[in-house]
Amino acid sequence: MISENKNVFTLDTKNTTYAFMVLPTGHLEHLYYGKRINIGGCAEALSRKQTMAVGNTVSYSGDNPAFSLEAARLEMSSYGKGDIREPFIELIHADGGFSSDFLYDGYEIRKGRDELATLPCSYGSEDEVEQLKIILKDKNYRLTLEMYYYVYKDCDVICRSCRLINESEADVNIRRIMSMLMDIDGTGYVFTTFNGAWAREMDRHDTVVTAGKHVNSSYTGTSSSRANPFVMISKQDTTQEQGECIGLNLIYSGNHYEAVETGMCDMTRIVAGINPQSFSYMLEPGCGFEAPEAVMTYSGYGFNRMSHNMHSFVRKHIVRGKWQYKERPVLLNSWEAAYFDISERKLYELAKAGKNVGVELFVMDDGWFGNRNDDTCSLGDWYVNKKKLPDGLKGLCDKINRLGMSFGIWVEPEMVNVNSELYRKHPDWAMDIPGCAHSEGRNQRVLDLCNPDVAEYIIESMTRVFSSANIAYVKWDMNRIFSDYYSRYLQEQGRQQGEVAHRYVATLGKIMRTLVERFPDILFEGCAAGGNRFDLGILCYFPQIWASDNTDAVSRTYIQEGLSYGYPMSVVSAHVSACPNHQTLRVTPLSTRFNVAAFGICGYECNLVDMKKEELNEIKAQISIYKKWRHTMQFGTFIRQRTGNIHQWTVADADGRR
Ligand code: DGJ
Repeated sequence: MISENKNVFTLDTKNTTYAFMVLPTGHLEHLYYGKRINIGGCAEALSRKQTMAVGNTVSYSGDNPAFSLEAARLEMSSYGKGDIREPFIELIHADGGFSSDFLYDGYEIRKGRDELATLPCSYGSEDEVEQLKIILKDKNYRLTLEMYYYVYKDCDVICRSCRLINESEADVNIRRIMSMLMDIDGTGYVFTTFNGAWAREMDRHDTVVTAGKHVNSSYTGTSSSRANPFVMISKQDTTQEQGECIGLNLIYSGNHYEAVETGMCDMTRIVAGINPQSFSYMLEPGCGFEAPEAVMTYSGYGFNRMSHNMHSFVRKHIVRGKWQYKERPVLLNSWEAAYFDISERKLYELAKAGKNVGVELFVMDDGWFGNRNDDTCSLGDWYVNKKKLPDGLKGLCDKINRLGMSFGIWVEPEMVNVNSELYRKHPDWAMDIPGCAHSEGRNQRVLDLCNPDVAEYIIESMTRVFSSANIAYVKWDMNRIFSDYYSRYLQEQGRQQGEVAHRYVATLGKIMRTLVERFPDILFEGCAAGGNRFDLGILCYFPQIWASDNTDAVSRTYIQEGLSYGYPMSVVSAHVSACPNHQTLRVTPLSTRFNVAAFGICGYECNLVDMKKEELNEIKAQISIYKKWRHTMQFGTFIRQRTGNIHQWTVADADGRR
């Protein structure tokens, strides 16, 4: 429930309370985030007292000589009036100045919530979510900053976002705009981040921030395998079952930034939002800019409770559509079985072997289009390779359907190889800097999604592919990070290149939304060289994501456990693969590989055709067990316990009976 009393705003969920108040200067002071309490008349007591601007700090104004923004515990901070910590917003005004001063101007509370116009966001009915809008106006320039709070009481989750509106006659340059900022008392918090690389995603790292600041961010153009946007801030004695912890995530698939910074007055500042690195967005008069939504949850009962809040929030208020609560089919993917060396005969034999052990969905991975025999060519040419599939997608799909299995395919629509028909026709559609040598990744370039013709091409070519056969599943891949950020289209439009990264993800969302609305029955799986884009932005469109290209069961225990802190197992795709493992060469028993994959959306990715009879029997038994238990495994409550290198996972139905 959201309430306002004498300029004190209280946001209550089932078990938590979040509160802030308007100070006499018009700034917002953060008061409290923790277990549920009755703020009632104690707001004054929670407020920090300032009797003088100490030492070389700056007084906010002559009218308020004792008040220094640097010593205040804030809910929002702009650069330039004495607060030199991480700002919420940084603008360059038409006069060249960097200072802003946003002050309180009013509020609105309503049941339900508005969608963001340009970015993916959470959703809920009027019974599930309440919205608070705080309006701030800049004291000197005609700018409005709307700060939004969305309270999901049942999940103990509060989301925040903001919108900057330019009501002046002049352009304003946005250099930084965060989604949330919160100052909390004390220092020495543990900032937990999930870092890694390709095939090593979501490795938990704990940093105690006693001084200075620690930043978790990505500049890959995606949320990245280097630093996932999900982070935690906890006390040093917090464990899985006990202690205080805040979980924080961003509904954004692009360059993100989360920082934990200590201040001079025994306080810690937390910010999260778009990565300001190379970000520069020109906001014209009459226009608005939306920041992505940040998701926050507080637990007084350790990391497991925090995860459970996040899990139910993601399931109920992020994942949409037909597949939201639907049990996911057991699939067999062709990648590690055949790589690029596919043909209709080979795939059909593999599918038949899958059918015999109980597989429900057969997925043809990379290699089916253009002249795609390796990763050097054909991305962009979304027509069937007739040498490999003489009867087209439909021919193979019908055959698989006749076996009693559904059929799915792999695509990588955001990319182009220089060696492709598409590049030869539209070299200007690739993101590269004219006249400069380009730095390739996996022999490919990122398409310039800022260009509406490119977005249209992706939508139309994918529509053609998805409607050319009875396609039940699509794996949407993205295999390189951004390097030479540049849009010729934006250049022609007279816009700044600092907008490219953000406009890219915003358009990507629109493309995905159009396609999932056109094909509501297709089960989409996000993928980006494994888990390079595992985030809530993607999950607003696609109900599941491939966690990692590393299918080794031992590596996967770390990757899946890392993911489990912020994401429910119903969105984590996990496959049983061959042995020795193709990425690590490790040898593990087939039972171990299944035991680990079964905690997620279990599938298979190995050459069943060449497997021994005993192994196939074992797989058949595994699939039959998984089908009996999959509702619990995918949608149950996941509990972590861990001692040293022993991982212990428990999953239970909501009613605790299974
Ligand atoms: C990277 C993905 O993560 C793999 O699973 C596979 O689909 C390859 N791309 C195909 O090129």
